[in-house]
Amino acid sequence: MELVQAMKSRKSIRGYNAVPVPKETLAQVLEIARNAPSANNTQPWEFIILGGAVLDELKRTLEEKFVSRTQPHPDFELGRPPTGVYRSRQVELGKSLFQLMDIARDDKEKRKQWVLKMIRFFDAPNAIIIATDTEVSDHLSIFAIGAISQNIALAAVNLGLGTCIENVVVLYPEVIRQIAGIPESKKIVIGMAIGYPDWDFPANKVQVSHEPLANLTSWHGV
Ligand SMILES: Cc1cc2nc3c(=O)[nH]c(=O)nc-3n(C[C@H](O)[C@H](O)[C@H](O)COP(=O)(O)O)c2cc1C
Repeated sequence: MELVQAMKSRKSIRGYNAVPVPKETLAQVLEIARNAPSANNTQPWEFIILGGAVLDELKRTLEEKFVSRTQPHPDFELGRPPTGVYRSRQVELGKSLFQLMDIARDDKEKRKQWVLKMIRFFDAPNAIIIATDTEVSDHLSIFAIGAISQNIALAAVNLGLGTCIENVVVLYPEVIRQIAGIPESKKIVIGMAIGYPDWDFPANKVQVSHEPLANLTSWHGV
């Protein structure tokens, strides 16, 4: 697929076919994606690729943590909730998704089920967790992992796959550490659901509005 077309058609996918992504295809995505920029070429990323019974166990354990209201303790502080225009964009996204999913504002049970689905990587057959090293500064690793996440998302589109970057799946990093044998010297940064999109799944029809260029730019000397 042409690059611009992949960039324009990429969107977060929240409903997947159950069919697992072949290992070679996942490797192909990461092989393409690893050509990402990082400060001083530090490449502060490591991939933990999950599927099958191991991913099922992770999904189950994360769900249990959420249902038992365990206090989240991600390796990277998620910070305070957005306010102002940032909150407005968040609310707009939530409203669109809930409308498509037929979840009423006051329907606590359906809302909870939606969050649980999110925690289960939207029931994707595979997931990629990206970790960094405690040796590396937060600024450096977060920026680089942002870049490589987008590369993964675009490489996935190229192969007919969909992804959803998810911070909700890294709220209990010790679970990932334990299941995948990740040492304390590594910090869990972000997770991604990956699989073949179910285009009939209502939430996949969401049309997220991206701010027009004119609202994002100031031009100087050009
Ligand atoms: C750091 C980060 C964390 C995210 N976490 C979640 C998440 O936990 N759940 C979710 O449904 N989407 C999550 N997303 C996806 C965003 O909601 C999505 O990128 C945004 O709404 C723009 O939509 P688009 O990706 O379809 O263009 C996350 C995206 C990023 C970059």
